[in-house]
Amino acid sequence: MPTTQTTIQHVSFENCLMNAAGVYCYSKEELEQVINSSAGSFVTKTATLEARLGNPEPRYINTSLGSINSMGLPNLSLHYYLEYLIELQEIYKERTYFLSLTGLNQEDIHKSLKQVQESEFNGFVELNLSCPNVPGKPQIAYDFETTDNILKQVFSYYKKPLGIKLPPYFDIVHFDQAAEIFNRYPLAFVNCINSIGNGLIIEDESVVIKPKEGFGGLGGDYIKPTALANVHAFYKRLNKSIAIIGTGGVKTGRDVFEHILCGASMVQVGTALQKEGPEIFERLTRELKAIMEEKGYKTLEEFRGKLNYL
Ligand code: DHB
Repeated sequence: MPTTQTTIQHVSFENCLMNAAGVYCYSKEELEQVINSSAGSFVTKTATLEARLGNPEPRYINTSLGSINSMGLPNLSLHYYLEYLIELQEIYKERTYFLSLTGLNQEDIHKSLKQVQESEFNGFVELNLSCPNVPGKPQIAYDFETTDNILKQVFSYYKKPLGIKLPPYFDIVHFDQAAEIFNRYPLAFVNCINSIGNGLIIEDESVVIKPKEGFGGLGGDYIKPTALANVHAFYKRLNKSIAIIGTGGVKTGRDVFEHILCGASMVQVGTALQKEGPEIFERLTRELKAIMEEKGYKTLEEFRGKLNYL
């Protein structure tokens, strides 16, 4: 029987699948459903120092090809997720979870990370540098100078495992420039990709979500080719000590297989998890194992990153 076990920085996960930040992770009740599924870990909703209500509704819509959202960072506060994660550490000593966080300005990012550094939390932080939905706040990781400055300062005091959630890039020179910056830092992982920001979906003569005149982050089928390209571009460019988490357009075992083939060590599920619920992890695991069995692979290492070229 093949195994879908995986490793990030010497931390082992029984399964390579987990939720993507924003889906099934707002409250303890939602996170418990992921814990009780076949997923190998979870990540929290991206937390800010203070709780937020987010943007006006409707702010998330499923379509036949995926989803569009402009949630606006609704979350129950860093304190809420951090306390819960520390509680879980006592119960599930052998498991590791991810805390997603960001700030509305650089000062808040550092205040948050200093709180995490001083806490008992010993899991992974996923620093979100790519939220597209807060009016007036750009996606940080599209500004390379700011990103470099933030990481330089973060690693001067933050000594626990930390990775970053990236927006999609669309130019080879941007892959080169971004990777050159990330390779300067002891990142545990980069997560490619967040939603494709600021798309527009129209029904009849109207937008479908209320915030920002209908502009929102795209997920699902729309974004799989972009996600795979980002996963593979960074897999080829980053130091081998930096793992890749693959996110975007995963709804079948075949999609998981392709993310791993492009170099992903862990694969996150957003839109399809929102549509199908946490039972999806059992189906995806079964479908991935069936592909591995057919191809004679017993572990993910045997095909990770081994994409063939013509
Ligand atoms: C939200 C959306 C994102 O894509 C993200 O990375 C963080 C927050 C949101 O709208 O809540």
